[in-house]
Amino acid sequence: VRDGNGVKGMVDLGLSKVPEPYIQPPKERIDKEKATRHEQAPIDFSRLNGPEHDEVFKEIVTAAETLGFFQLVNHGVPVDLLESLKDAAHKFFGQPSEKKAVYRKDVSPSPLVKYGTSFVPEKEKALEWKDYISMVYTSDAEALEQWPKECREVVLEYLKTSMNMVKKLLEILMGNLEAELDDSKIDALIGMKMVNMNFYPTCPNPDLTVGVGRHSDMGTLTILLQDGIGGLYVKVAEEIDNIGKQGEWVEIPPIPGALVINIGDALQILSNGRYKSAEHRVRTTSTKSRVSIPIFTAPKPTEKIAPLPQVVEKDGMAYYKEFVFADYMKNFFGNAHDGKKSLDFA
Ligand code: SIN
Ligand code: FE2
Repeated sequence: VRDGNGVKGMVDLGLSKVPEPYIQPPKERIDKEKATRHEQAPIDFSRLNGPEHDEVFKEIVTAAETLGFFQLVNHGVPVDLLESLKDAAHKFFGQPSEKKAVYRKDVSPSPLVKYGTSFVPEKEKALEWKDYISMVYTSDAEALEQWPKECREVVLEYLKTSMNMVKKLLEILMGNLEAELDDSKIDALIGMKMVNMNFYPTCPNPDLTVGVGRHSDMGTLTILLQDGIGGLYVKVAEEIDNIGKQGEWVEIPPIPGALVINIGDALQILSNGRYKSAEHRVRTTSTKSRVSIPIFTAPKPTEKIAPLPQVVEKDGMAYYKEFVFADYMKNFFGNAHDGKKSLDFA
């Protein structure tokens, strides 16, 4: 596991059963039969520019207030770029182990790039069945110089073409809270950007493992490209009453050309709990390896985060304390995935 070959390196050697460190306790295992699909049509983002603007606005707000997950089509990111990204991910992970291992945290030539396996292996009771490469964005020049050359150009293009949509989404979600944030404030909420490429190798027994364990994302908004394999599940919060299936896990089905958007903890906190950072997880499969490519946007580490005063005034109280985002991150990356426990920090 820690020899740098990743889960893929292990699977490539030929595995007839799941090695013990990857066997999840029964309560974390994912029963495929129990989950239903979240059959909601994707939101057509291009309708925002026409007479249906108000409906689209409402669809986005409602999704953020309920499931905390939704899918967008006509989002402005070219569909052939999405195809190139999935190809690039397969190409990167398809390389010999030693080509990937050079980016392991302890040896990476760049502080922006990290290749790893699972989430926080030293803290996990059972490891996640996943390899990944993370690329932190600082500037175009550094990305084009330091990110792995097998994917740097497409990944940067993906990040840049997504930002228009991210900003529009934030304008909608903040506008709905009557928080008219100027550009510099919006920029501060997404001042940190990172792109991951995740690789979930085939697993001899998907019933015993997880690709990713239950967690919510820590940041503002996550934009996720998933391939056609499926296996992304979201928990319907107990306290919401208008979409049914409370407490159940629903699958976010792959939709060709769509991007999955999810609300992160920072946005839940800023909105004083109005928007929900959704608990989600990923199942492995025995037949085909899966890739996903999330863009994480988050506040700058130096940013102070607290519920917005406009919302607190309406609600009569703040449900979260103020903190510096760097401290939130330290807690998030210092612990194994554990549902929405990360929010206890606030
Ligand atoms: C994650 O939430 O960490 C990954 C989601 C995915 O692979 O679909
Ligand atoms: Fe996630």
